[in-house]
Amino acid sequence: MIELKKIVPVDNLTELEAQAELRYLAKEIAYHDSLYHEKDQPEIDDATYDSLRQRNTAIEDKFPHLIRPDSPSRKVGHKASPAFSKVTHLAPMLSLENAFIEEDIIDFLERVKRFLGLNTEEIEIVAEPKIDGLSCSLRYEEGCLKQAATRGDGEIGEDVTENVRTIQNIPLTIPYAETLEIRGEVYMKHSNFNKLNALRIQAKEPLFANPRNAAAGSLRQLDARITATRPLEFFAYGFSKYPLKLATHFEGLELLKEWRFPVNPLIEVCPSIQDILAFYQKIESLRSELDYDIDGVVYKINSLSLQHRLGNVARAPRYAIAHKFPPQQAQTTLENIIIQVGRTGVLTPVAQLKPINVGGVIVSRATLHNDDELIRKDIRIGDRVLIQRAGDVIPQVVKVLNPERPNRSLPFKFPTHCPVCESYIERLPEQAAHRCTGGLYCPTQASLRLRHFVSRDAFDIEGLGLKHIDSFFQEGLLKTPVDIFTLEEKDMNSSTPLSSREGWGIKSAQNLFTAINNRRNISLERFIYSLGIPQIGQTTAKLLAFHYEKYFQWKEAMQKAAKEDGEERQDLLSINGIGPSVAEDLLSFFKEQHNIDILDKLEHHLTITDIISIAFNDSPINGKVIVFTGTLNNLTRAEAKARAESLGAKVAGSVSSKTDYVIYGEDAGSKARKAKELGVNLLTEDEWLTLIKEFE
Ligand code: IVH
Repeated sequence: MIELKKIVPVDNLTELEAQAELRYLAKEIAYHDSLYHEKDQPEIDDATYDSLRQRNTAIEDKFPHLIRPDSPSRKVGHKASPAFSKVTHLAPMLSLENAFIEEDIIDFLERVKRFLGLNTEEIEIVAEPKIDGLSCSLRYEEGCLKQAATRGDGEIGEDVTENVRTIQNIPLTIPYAETLEIRGEVYMKHSNFNKLNALRIQAKEPLFANPRNAAAGSLRQLDARITATRPLEFFAYGFSKYPLKLATHFEGLELLKEWRFPVNPLIEVCPSIQDILAFYQKIESLRSELDYDIDGVVYKINSLSLQHRLGNVARAPRYAIAHKFPPQQAQTTLENIIIQVGRTGVLTPVAQLKPINVGGVIVSRATLHNDDELIRKDIRIGDRVLIQRAGDVIPQVVKVLNPERPNRSLPFKFPTHCPVCESYIERLPEQAAHRCTGGLYCPTQASLRLRHFVSRDAFDIEGLGLKHIDSFFQEGLLKTPVDIFTLEEKDMNSSTPLSSREGWGIKSAQNLFTAINNRRNISLERFIYSLGIPQIGQTTAKLLAFHYEKYFQWKEAMQKAAKEDGEERQDLLSINGIGPSVAEDLLSFFKEQHNIDILDKLEHHLTITDIISIAFNDSPINGKVIVFTGTLNNLTRAEAKARAESLGAKVAGSVSSKTDYVIYGEDAGSKARKAKELGVNLLTEDEWLTLIKEFE
């Protein structure tokens, strides 16, 4: 820790002194933030901490051009903090598929009808404004608010109960004894947001960029007394599970109102597609008059029995869709183009812009996607450009506004070598992206891969934040993921153990080792995702884990498929959702010996659990191979397949000795015959529904 020797009045500071002190303050305040928020061991009292921040603000006010990118005044709120305990939601908090144009909505309704086997009838929809806040789940037990949680990863969120109790329009009791979770959005009204920022100007505190950030920063306060001073509000829109007596979503909203939950007053039942699209137009035209932010509308199938039949795909329900408003746009000047290196070596040109306010958010960078896009739009340094942002999407450059101006700079030339490691840049045939060929030699790629490896949806190692990863990487302490699991052992024999380093203590080092040890058991899908293979996101990792079931089965099949175009490669490509391009990236990973070495070493430190054994333990069709044949009476093929898969079964197109059940409807032909010949279990549609009903 650096000692601040003399306190010079701000007015007497020279520019050099101000610069040095701002550097010191950024480091010092970050150090105390980390002690307070992450390690729960503050070394200074609140008043001393506040005086450091005030000093920082005072110097920045006098020397605004010296404000540092890492200045504490630029940070609002805090990153996920271990201080919030984790809670598992009663049912996953799903996200929504996004639609942007009317055709997407027409497609959605058609898809729903096809799935349900409905031909002509209209399906009743409930249309709701999409509130731009933070989703929150409120658990009531025996009629009392017992727990409130943020969405988190959808399965597990952060416990914000004490903070939520301070939100005035959330009832603390409800007249319902069973345990259930009410779902909705926490938000801040524009009028209150403006008042809050006005107070922060007076208090010389950093301003919130928009009402959503203000709501997030306020909800995730470690001290609920601070949340209590923030004007947060809540709109309820759903349940973890609808109470049994209800038949429609709209009745659910009525019940929520009866229970004194605030429900958005603009919600409407729409019997036809025309009503739906008229609702969208109406809400879009009202948007600027509303005192709260919305970023679109949500359509939900009203009937709960249809909702149930439709079920979910990955992390979104099939029975709902978000119809987003068009992006917000603004004009500014493009000051520079830089090249950013991504985790998988993909190089993205990024526009540095003259900062501009777009729909309440200050934008200073925008993605230019790739070289083709740059050439197609003929974007050059110094151009006046139109930029847009939509929701959480990275801002984009739409077009150049003054392409005809004289003295335009020359077209941007994509570099031939990586700006970080100077490795040669390649462009694969038929791909738009340029890639740095440095692989793990490229420090940016290597540290981004480590970051990915420990990230929330991968190994989720608490206490191994981005800053630690980067500094451990620079020191050479962590080079590959294997080093994470040998860190404690090496630390014991080290002359400079972690606990002796600046910012660390015995407790925090031990906490880190415990967090690492807690993750030595990992599910196969998470493990595959954590490897950071290009194009292998969470959904594809799940598909692979589901198909291969066991880690060693997967690894062996991939190694064989990488070597030759045989049975294993065909099997990989037979997985619904794995196309040739994904397979190529996956197999390229297995063609590299250093990747295999890492897997071989990781195996010694980890227990990688089979997906089947975790997800569908109780299901009678877990891991079974099923074939449907003939015309089913109660459900369409798509629905039958989705329901079987959601219980852990694999649905195949043809009968073989590997088939466990054949479910036959009317006019079942050769497949049923073949099943009989092979002695495969044959079930009628009703027998099948009885078998699975209990487990759904
Ligand atoms: S329903 C299963 N209704 O939008 C359906 N979500 O993009 C899950 N949101 O995480 C959500 N207003 O935070 C629903 N009227 C509304 C909503 C709404 C805002 C948010 C919610 C969700 C996100 C999905």
